[in-house]
Amino acid sequence: MNTTWDERFATADYVYGTEPNASATSSPASIWSSLASANATSSRAPVTTAAVPSCRCSRAGSAQAPDAVQRCTFSSDPDDDDLNLLNPTMPKSNVPAKVLSELNRQLNHELSAAHNYQALSLWCAARNLTGFASFFSRQAGEEREHAEKMIDHALDRGATPELAALPAPPREFASLLDIALQAQTMEQANTTGINAVYEAALAAKDYPAQVLMHWFINEQVEEEAWCAEMVDRVKGASCAGSLSDLDRHIERQLAGDGKKAD
Ligand SMILES: [Fe+2]
Ligand SMILES: [Fe+2]
Repeated sequence: MNTTWDERFATADYVYGTEPNASATSSPASIWSSLASANATSSRAPVTTAAVPSCRCSRAGSAQAPDAVQRCTFSSDPDDDDLNLLNPTMPKSNVPAKVLSELNRQLNHELSAAHNYQALSLWCAARNLTGFASFFSRQAGEEREHAEKMIDHALDRGATPELAALPAPPREFASLLDIALQAQTMEQANTTGINAVYEAALAAKDYPAQVLMHWFINEQVEEEAWCAEMVDRVKGASCAGSLSDLDRHIERQLAGDGKKAD
């Protein structure tokens, strides 16, 4: 028996009774507490094991009362797994195994890059290099967005991405030049990783992944370009005063970007 989503929600018991007030849910804590209070004040009886007779979708094999069958909004077909909301299954992935494994590796690498950029930002912030700190913090956000792009791609194609443990990033650096070189090395490693995903997509004739990776390949050209410029400019700032000027210049540039975005 197939039912539409609308039909299911029209007949299913909704545990919380009322929707949480969106304007009142400004923090994660208030979202969960609003759900709890909505449940407590609901005029509809919450679903409990005792209140709901076992239904066909429980697959217990016992005879069912007619009203129990009517209450059941799920399929009675044991093969109809996509209708089992209590144990939802993903659709079958159509990402070739090698491409998926490369995508997984790279999305974790992007998350690791975010972690590393955040560490560079903290080092700069602790030394009042506010411009560099903001810049690296923004880069950390961009790397997370890169990981999310890959995650969305995998999910859209029926694959579940796998998150790995992230190694702790380095904390000690000899100088701002050391920091700039660290960022450059990271981006070069990122380019190698992106190219590996693309090569896997080419070998598997996986056209959607190839198109996705075109974006990343272009992005890495830009990332490596600003890294090279940053290393040159930090090398050129040979005294504390010129480093401070460089930092203030970056701060002003980022503030200008923020105004444009508003
Ligand atoms: Fe990236
Ligand atoms: Fe990057």
